[in-house]
Amino acid sequence: MRNLKVDGDRLWASLMEMARIGATPKGGNCRLALSDLDAEGRRLFIRWCEEAGCTVTVDRVGNIFARRPGRNPDLPPVMTGSHLDTQPTGGRFDGVYGVLAGLEVVRTLNDLGYETEAPIEVAVWTNEEGARFSPAMMGSGVFAGIFGVDETLAKPDNFGPATFGEELRRIGFAGEAPVGGRPVKAYFEAHIEQGPILEDEGKTIGVVTAAQGQRWYEITVTGQESHAGTTPMRKRQDALVAAARMVEAVNRIGHAHPPDAVATVGALQVSPNSRNTIPGRVFFTVDFRHPVDATLSIMDEELKRECRGIAEAARVTVDITDFWYFPPTPFEKRLVDSVRSAAKAQGLPHRDIISGAGHDAVYLARVAPTAMVFVPCKGGISHNEIEDAKKEDLEAGCAVLLNAILAEANA
Ligand code: GLV
Ligand code: MN
Ligand code: MN
Repeated sequence: MRNLKVDGDRLWASLMEMARIGATPKGGNCRLALSDLDAEGRRLFIRWCEEAGCTVTVDRVGNIFARRPGRNPDLPPVMTGSHLDTQPTGGRFDGVYGVLAGLEVVRTLNDLGYETEAPIEVAVWTNEEGARFSPAMMGSGVFAGIFGVDETLAKPDNFGPATFGEELRRIGFAGEAPVGGRPVKAYFEAHIEQGPILEDEGKTIGVVTAAQGQRWYEITVTGQESHAGTTPMRKRQDALVAAARMVEAVNRIGHAHPPDAVATVGALQVSPNSRNTIPGRVFFTVDFRHPVDATLSIMDEELKRECRGIAEAARVTVDITDFWYFPPTPFEKRLVDSVRSAAKAQGLPHRDIISGAGHDAVYLARVAPTAMVFVPCKGGISHNEIEDAKKEDLEAGCAVLLNAILAEANA
């Protein structure tokens, strides 16, 4: 059987049911990693997978694997999945689509009584977003051997006093399975594009050839706290004024490498954050991305040079930590070709595309042949409660995922 379809209504209904967990007033979701709501979403997913006849395993960092057996139990699984955690003001589709598209693949195969050669596993990776615990793509990173288990369990909560390990235990998802270290025949991840290209060009499927590289930094500027009413302007060592100039420099660096560079300061903390005390300390984060590693390196040098110059002129000190890095990641040609063929066979308008976002697929690509399927989202908006996608596009992407998975699972 080739060129199979999936049940778009069932996929949509599951997405909407998951979206009720952590629903926000503007129609989005807040299901932060390892929160009670994340646990509720995980339990719903597990219930659905068990009802679909899958065996569920949870590893030591909370990654979930739902396995549909194949004819040949000795073959490594073809894996698909994504994440259920969201940004603080996240949408209903980022990550969730890849997980529930995987479940829809399993349900469709069950409906057809279709036995694949290799087993199929649907994965939920812990803390993909990197919002509550940083960096991002943590569960898949441990699976791929990029991060250690213990260092990950010790990661602090960006919004509170707990650690990743404490919260994982508290919500009941500290599993026993070892993390990674087992073969994966192929990994596919379906995701909304999170940018405007597919929608602008009227394409239904993005054949993802690569993901751009990222560099994350943590920067602390230290000046001197003093009285807002009595400290003359010429005597100030204002950490916030210096940080503001650095934020502006980050934006300038983003603009200086068009058309592909992007540069963001997304989090900033001012200390002591009192309106009549000159700020003595500012902490902020920087997120740089580019599809070419050499350009990312130039941006890195520019950031450090600019920040040091600004600090010196403002008579403050600056401490720059290289917090996280991954290079631009090409996906496996054979699998990418298979995604393109599946889109063609379904008669779907498609184009090759580079992922602007980070995905668990980036780390899976270190340990298994990997590819991704993108579908459009409304206005290219994501990491926003108003994130939206069309049922027909989600269904089409899921059908492409199914057929690409089958090509590998039966090869
Ligand atoms: C993940 O959501 C990212 O920041 O790309
Ligand atoms: Mn995502
Ligand atoms: Mn995201």
